[in-house]
Order: sequence, then C-alpha cells, then structure tokens
Amino acid sequence: MCGIVGISARRDVVSHLIEGLQALEYRGYDSAGVAVMTDEGIARLRAKGKVSALGELQLQRGVSGHCGIAHTRWATHGVPSEGNAHPHVSGDVSVVHNGIIENHEALRKELQAQGFEFTSQTDTEVIAHLVEREQRRGADLLAAVKAVVPVLHGAYAIAAMSRREPGRLVGARLGSPLVVGYGDGEQYLASDIHALLPLTKRFTYLAEGDVVDLDADGVRIFGEDGEPVEREIKETTFSSDAIDKGGYRHFMLKEIHEQPRVLADTLEGRIAGGKVLTEILGVDAVPLLEKTQSVHIVACGTSYHAGLVARYWIESLAGVPCTAEIASEYRYRSPVVKDGTLFITISQSGETADTLAALKLAKARGYLTQLAVCNVPESSIVRESELVLMTRAGPEIGVASTKAFTTQLVALALFSLALGRVKGLSEKRYASGVRQLEQLPAMVAEALKLDERIQAMAERFVDKQHALFLGRGTHWPVAMEGALKLKEISYIHAEAYAAGELKHGPLALVDQDMPVIAVAPNDHLIDKLLSNMEEVRARGGELFVFVEDGVGRGIDSENMLVLPASGEIAAPVVFTIPLQLLSYHVAVLRGTDVDQPRNLAKSVTVE
Ligand code: AGP
Repeated sequence: MCGIVGISARRDVVSHLIEGLQALEYRGYDSAGVAVMTDEGIARLRAKGKVSALGELQLQRGVSGHCGIAHTRWATHGVPSEGNAHPHVSGDVSVVHNGIIENHEALRKELQAQGFEFTSQTDTEVIAHLVEREQRRGADLLAAVKAVVPVLHGAYAIAAMSRREPGRLVGARLGSPLVVGYGDGEQYLASDIHALLPLTKRFTYLAEGDVVDLDADGVRIFGEDGEPVEREIKETTFSSDAIDKGGYRHFMLKEIHEQPRVLADTLEGRIAGGKVLTEILGVDAVPLLEKTQSVHIVACGTSYHAGLVARYWIESLAGVPCTAEIASEYRYRSPVVKDGTLFITISQSGETADTLAALKLAKARGYLTQLAVCNVPESSIVRESELVLMTRAGPEIGVASTKAFTTQLVALALFSLALGRVKGLSEKRYASGVRQLEQLPAMVAEALKLDERIQAMAERFVDKQHALFLGRGTHWPVAMEGALKLKEISYIHAEAYAAGELKHGPLALVDQDMPVIAVAPNDHLIDKLLSNMEEVRARGGELFVFVEDGVGRGIDSENMLVLPASGEIAAPVVFTIPLQLLSYHVAVLRGTDVDQPRNLAKSVTVE
C-alpha cells in the first residue's frame, strides 16, 4: 500500500528520496511523486507507473533540494494518474498521505465554497488545502497540522512541508504507520524502516495520534493531547541487505529459498529437551493455557490460511474448539464469545487494517486475552496485543507471501503443541510433533531440491485459464494457499476445494483444460483423496500430484512429485513449498510482474 519518505538535511536529498521509494516498492503502488524545497519554491515530480520514471524525470529536470517528501500511491480515490499522484499542493503547502479520509467529500465541498480549487480526484488533496487554510490564518506548519488532524475522519499517515518554513517537515499518524529516523545532521520520516535503512538504524515508531515536527537538527514529538512526549529510540538489527535480491531473479524466489533458515530462526530458543518452552507465550503461559477453553483466530489472506491449518491442529492436539475467520467479516458481525476463549490474530505485516480493527473490537468482547502471531516488531498489531509470538521470517518483500506463511505455521504449531501438552496430549504424539519441528528446516531444504522438476511442470500451465487445487484436512488450507499464490502472481483463475466436495459441484468443471493439483500427504485421509483423484482422471482431467514418500505407489500420474516423509505437524509446511515454486515458475513463464503483481499491495492498510 502507499509509502511515504521525508528527509530534512543539509545536502541534496532527491536521490535519497527516490531510493527510499524504491525500497517501498514492495508495498504495492501505481504512481509515485516527490516534492523538494528549492530556492524558487517547491519543485514537484510525479509519474504514473514505476518509481524509476521519477529517476528519469529527475535527470531531465535536474531538481535538487535539502528538504523533501516523496510518495508511492496505491489508488483508492481516483484512478492511477500523474494528476492523482502525491505530493498534493495547495499554495505554499505540499502533502503526502497514506490511508483514507472518510469525510473528504464534505471537506472538499466546504473548501470549494471557500475558493480552494481542486486539481485531483483524491481524498488527500483536502489535507493540503486544510493545512494551507490554517497557514493563511497565521498558523505555522506544526500548528496548522495539529489543527487539521482532528478534522480528519479515517486513517492517515501524513508528511507535510511549507515554502514558508524551508527545512521543516511535520508528520502525523492515526491508523497508518509512520516512523521517524535519526541521522547525523539530518532527520527522516517514512512509512516503514526499509525506506531508511541505508541512511540510519535508529528509529522511533510513532504512536497513534502522534504529531512529529522535524528539521535537519532534530525531532520533536507531540502526543494525542498535543503535548510534547518522549518516545523510545530503537536500534534495528535489519540491514539494507535484507531488501536485496541476493543474486536471485526475484525477491519471491529468494524468499522461498530462505525458508530452511527462517524456519530454524523461528524455532530457535523455543524448543529445548524435546519440549516447547511455554515461556514463549509469556510468564503466565501455563495458567493461561489451562484457562483456555476455546480459541478464535482472525486474519486475512495467506495469514487466514495459516489460521485454518492451526484450527485443525488445535482441535486435534489439544481437544479445544477453534474457529478461524476472515478479519473483514469478523469486524462487522456480532460474535458471541464464550468464557475462556483466547483471541489470536495472525499478520505478516502487523498493519493490515481489517485485522487491526478486529483486534481492537475483540478487546472489548471479553476474551481471555489477545495473542498476535506477527512478523514485524513494533507494528500496530504487536503493540496493541497483550501477548506476541513473533515469526522470524525477516523482511518479506515479494507481495506474494511465502516465508511469512511457513513461519506462521511453525509459530502456530508451537502454540498448538504447548496447548496440547497442558490439555493432555499424549507424550508420544507431543514428542513426535516436537521432533518434526526440529527436523523441519532439513525437510524443507529437501523439498526445495524439486525446484527444477517443478519448473518443467510449470510449462504445462502456461496457457491454462483455470486450475483446481484439492486437499483434505490440514492440506485443504494448504491447497487454498496454493491456489491463492497461483492466482495472485500468474493471474490464472485458481480455486481450492476440500477434495470431498468434488462431487458436490466442482467436478463439473473438470476436463482436459482444467489442471487439477492434488496435495497428498500420508495421513488418515489418503485413501479418500486417492479416490477423489480417480474421479478426476475418469473425467479426463490432467492431474498434478504432490505425494508424501510412501504414498505414491497407488497413484498413476506422470505428473507426480514425491516429497520427504514428514508427519502431521511438518507436512503442511513441506507441501507448501512445491506449490510456491509452481506458482513462481508459472508466473515467470507467463511474464508477469512476480514481486509486484498488478492491483495488489503488500500491506493492506486500508479497508
Ligand atoms: C498473500 O500472498 C497476500 N499478500 C495477502 O493475502 C496477505 O497475506 C494478506 O493481505 C494479509 O496480510 P498480513 O499477513 O500482513 O496481515
């Protein structure tokens, strides 16, 4: 979703602003712009499409300046176009904004009636005019932004500058993230730290309602009540290498191949002596798990699929009822919460608007507590949650989630086993689950060796319009995740079905043009899945089967790949790997923009 960068320095900042935007490209966007303060006033470059177009404009026009703001826009109000790209300007003021201003129409009418002329279809432009109006009334930039933010309904992160006060930047956040970066004789603003990693490692994550005032010499932060506040400065261990492709053709491929390492990182220090260390869920973990009578998981997209896998684990290992639900549905219904229910959110980014809103609602609903499974420290969801179980996937840049999903599965497996242990899970099954987790990085490394064979398999999909994924039990959500990956990066329409549903409708779609991908682990449902595959074959459907070692004998398919034997905890992770590779290679063959698929954003910070 949109990205913000702001820099106040004593040197030319244009190239750093553009580099910052490039580091934010992964969030998804469709236009970009930059504005800098020059001796003649504010110079603005904007372009539809890629950030690289801004670099070309910069070379043609030779714009330079010591203070500026920049933005990647993911269109919500108004089409992607140069005219709708940020920064938006009103008189002396220019503004960039992430989020949605819900009352923008009323504000637009009010401002138009007062003579302000609008040049874009965006909701953001009202902010520029409102700040300019305050300045005309005599406010300085800080006072103007402070006066404007209470008028805005919705979610925002803002950065503003004014020709009247060269070198000054004022930012504000509510509902959309904004970080402050600290340099030596220069200071920064950005929507996430990736934009600033080449410039600094020292950051403050602004709190909801904060306003920040900065220039090259320093930073002042004001809380929701408008009074100065001290916010902690944190040093990140992330380096700018983390957002490098590291020799891979795409971030997605690099992230797929990083999985053995990040799974091991996610397990590190969490298992010892054949046991899951319950302290990973906080000092009061055991009493909490004892009190847990049911679990309610809420998430979106890939993270929701991780929640669906966990639902099977939690019910089967701990005997505790569990529901998993899409956040955008949860937040608008009236859930009935039974005593003793634990609320879990799952989010890679920790900034997904629907999941965050669901968490805020859940806090008033009488759950035992809220646990976040998240990949981004200091994200809004982490900060709003009582308990946190961090995944350690490192920055995920490809829009299609890969390593974030498998590390979520590992974190949820740790939770399910810990809960199971407290609820009477047999020693044998518990020990086996822990052992599978210990062996998981090696199993995933083994599965990755299938890369070349999957690349060959991908050629059979290039000219297909549709695909059907089948799985059962924990592998139904794995099939759903496989279908989501294929559709989001190759633009092939893909559906996933619990294989037992085949005869209840989707079988009608099966013919020689419909590839059917079956995920076949060696579990108690394998015989039933084999029959479902026969039903497909009998209708002339082309089957692509991923089987666990030891299952393949009964399957008659030239498109069969054998995966390492894994077990109930490891299998959903291991079987995810070939599905990720398949969609990756199909997308490459179809020539799509793998890391930044059309219309999608990495972090969905608006509804
Ligand atoms: C998956 O490939 C997608 N990028 C998307 O479904 C994503 O998982 C979803 O938007 C949720 O994001 P989150 O995990 O950051 O909350």
